[in-house]
Amino acid sequence: MKDIEHNENFRILIVDDVSQNIQIVANILKAEGYQMTYAQSGKAALAKAWSHNFDLILLDIMMPEMNGFEVCIKLKQYPETKDIPVIFLTAKSDTESIVKGFKVGATDYVTKPFNRMELVARVRTHLALRESQKALQTSEEHLREAVAAKDKFFSIIAHDLRSPFHNLFHLHEFLEDDIDTFDREQLVEFFKSLCENATMTFNLLENLLSWAKTQTGSVKFAPVSFSVSGLAKNIAKLLKSSADEKNITLTSGIDEDITAYGDTDMISMILRNLVTNAIKFTPKHGKITIDGEKKDNHVEITVADTGMGISEENIRKLFRIDIQFSSFGTQGERGSGLGLILCKEFAEKNSGKIWVESEVSKGSRFKFTLPGTKNYVRKR
Ligand SMILES: Nc1ncnc2c1ncn2[C@@H]1O[C@H](COP(=O)(O)OP(=O)(O)O)[C@@H](O)[C@H]1O
Ligand SMILES: [Mg+2]
Repeated sequence: MKDIEHNENFRILIVDDVSQNIQIVANILKAEGYQMTYAQSGKAALAKAWSHNFDLILLDIMMPEMNGFEVCIKLKQYPETKDIPVIFLTAKSDTESIVKGFKVGATDYVTKPFNRMELVARVRTHLALRESQKALQTSEEHLREAVAAKDKFFSIIAHDLRSPFHNLFHLHEFLEDDIDTFDREQLVEFFKSLCENATMTFNLLENLLSWAKTQTGSVKFAPVSFSVSGLAKNIAKLLKSSADEKNITLTSGIDEDITAYGDTDMISMILRNLVTNAIKFTPKHGKITIDGEKKDNHVEITVADTGMGISEENIRKLFRIDIQFSSFGTQGERGSGLGLILCKEFAEKNSGKIWVESEVSKGSRFKFTLPGTKNYVRKR
């Protein structure tokens, strides 16, 4: 029974131009509990294979128009279908056809008329192989992500965390040599830039540390129901002085009674990063608004700015650990491209999504969603 339940997860495509043949195979495999789909021509088989996710294809060789060999060649050409095992069903038991079958990428073959036990055994074996191959692929993907994460981490430490210190040393040298030649106003300017430098470095370090925690799995996740406007106001208050510096108005207009469910530390981190970016990429006298809207089961939060916007091409590079992308702010502020990756990680951890709509020179709208209540938390 347990086997059959497990088998329900496997989808098999049976391809034969003769419907009685399909019937025979289907009858044999039905008892095993697999999910089955049928196609009566090569063309139909390809269309189905490209639109569904099959674990195995049983493929007749002799069919009018497009024979099984041709179908197999096509399947092996496309990344979506190239790893699906193909077993040829063939009345042609001559060595030549069998060799040709393997040459075009078949995994195995079964000769007609079928021996029930043999068919079942071969299907089982190849599905099991396919399953372990998939598991390997998944763990390889995870590994690749982990390596990319590690690379990014080191590159940030090596470059982005170093440069603020260069600025600092430089400033110090400058002051030490010529301190008497500066007037009070100039000194105030120096200290202001010192403070900005420190804030930027501190933000980066905070991002780096939270991200390191998520990578090692030691980040604590404590979701609660909270007032979205309250949280947004806190962030706006925190970042008001950097917005003031650029004469940017920063407002939060969220309905007082909208609540969402999530980890408030993580969501503050998302908002802090989005608003910091908005300030960084908006020229003087611009406008930034934080909005929140209740939509069915979730809450959609938007950070909109009237800044420089992002091109279509660059939007595709955002939120990705495998791509290094960061550009200078309107006042030459440097970045590391870590902020949005962290935002995505935290939004997803909170059952949400994050994306951006933007127009170059007009502005950007970064949006993310959160479940409205505990009931809408996505099961993992
Ligand atoms: N509000 C925005 N307006 C324009 N570009 C943005 C905005 N937010 C993010 N970006 C783009 O996305 C990039 C990555 O952002 P982020 O991950 O926060 O890294 P960083 O701020 O360190 O560069 C930025 O360098 C910038 O090119
Ligand atoms: Mg940023």
